[in-house]
Amino acid sequence: MPPNLTNRYPSIESLRQRARQRIPFFAWEYVDSGTGNGGCMRRNQEALESVTLVPHYIKGVFQPDTSTSLFDVDYNVPFGVSPVGLTALMWPRAERILAKAAADHRFPYTLSTAATEAPETIGPLTNGMGWFQLYPPRDPKIRRDLLLRAKDNGFTTLLVTADVPVAGRRERQVQAGVTVPPRVTPLMLWRSAIRPAWAFATLKSGIPRFRGLEKYLDGRDMRDMLTFIGQELGGSLDWEYLQAVRQEWEGPIALKGVIDVEEAERAVSIGYDGIMVSNHGGRQFDGSPAAISVLPSIVSAVGDRTAILFDSGVRGGLDIARALALGADFVLLGRAFMYGVSALGDRGGDHVARILKDDLVNNMTQLGCRSLSELASRLPKTT
Ligand code: FNR
Repeated sequence: MPPNLTNRYPSIESLRQRARQRIPFFAWEYVDSGTGNGGCMRRNQEALESVTLVPHYIKGVFQPDTSTSLFDVDYNVPFGVSPVGLTALMWPRAERILAKAAADHRFPYTLSTAATEAPETIGPLTNGMGWFQLYPPRDPKIRRDLLLRAKDNGFTTLLVTADVPVAGRRERQVQAGVTVPPRVTPLMLWRSAIRPAWAFATLKSGIPRFRGLEKYLDGRDMRDMLTFIGQELGGSLDWEYLQAVRQEWEGPIALKGVIDVEEAERAVSIGYDGIMVSNHGGRQFDGSPAAISVLPSIVSAVGDRTAILFDSGVRGGLDIARALALGADFVLLGRAFMYGVSALGDRGGDHVARILKDDLVNNMTQLGCRSLSELASRLPKTT
């Protein structure tokens, strides 16, 4: 990592602070906020912080091995990028920057259905490590077409998001004037103008558009798009629907947004290869338990039959180690990567990857763990 970046931005929190100064207020509120009072978002991080691990120091000289494999793909590290929609609002071309950094470092990048780039553009950049996230369309023809486009463009793994039965009430976002289509007000123009790097990059790349969905509409009118997203991609899921998606997708598939043990069991029983324990980073339901607090019960119910993925609140290598120690097979991060790109533009994805890997290796060394599978044995003994 270039020495100046290492010293100036050694942590995800330092990138978060920089991002706040570099992007307009409405974009900042979009990425940084949760729903309600932000209680769930806080709980996610506090509960992670409260997980302690016991270091073993007398282990000789060794270099920790962070490599792992998931669904028959080898990765250099046990973490990846969670799907994030309206991505270019936070930084133009963010999907390209992150997909490329992920491929360079050999970890997965997940493209959201609601991203601002299409699967055709991003798939080829992922070098066989791209995952696709499905916001379930009501029209089965659109669903099948999206899945086909994902597969044809090299995405290997599908995440089906379950935890958006209705759009989250994000009060901070509403107050900051985050609307789709964007409402251009003098205040918004002022807020953009005082963030010249963002404004310049956005002028160059154009106003964010939902490029992956434009095919299903006549034209690109943002107002039509909003109606389309509300009517076509919204709403609750049922088990028949999830079964249909299972049958239509040939590769590995995971259900994202699982907090309940019984729902995890049912998803496994209909053939889901992975359960992603997540509360959407506290953006949907403010009363949800911290995702890390339900991880152990879901691991003990289905962890022997399915892969366990985890996100929500992860801000560093130590958090990754904590989730792995509690039984996750793989950990994803949403905001951490977005803070990096918002703070550093083209260099952001690479810098976040380096921080996370370096922090994970450092903490594994403290713990005396040569491999990821040893992390579970560092949980404090309860007797
Ligand atoms: C998200 N998330 C999300 N999830 C999803 O399935 N599809 C999506 O389009 C989005 N969009 C989105 C936008 C933004 C700005 C954020 C911050 C998050 C949720 C995301 O995939 C992930 O679950 C959380 O970000 C995890 O929490 P942390 O890592 O941000 O704490």
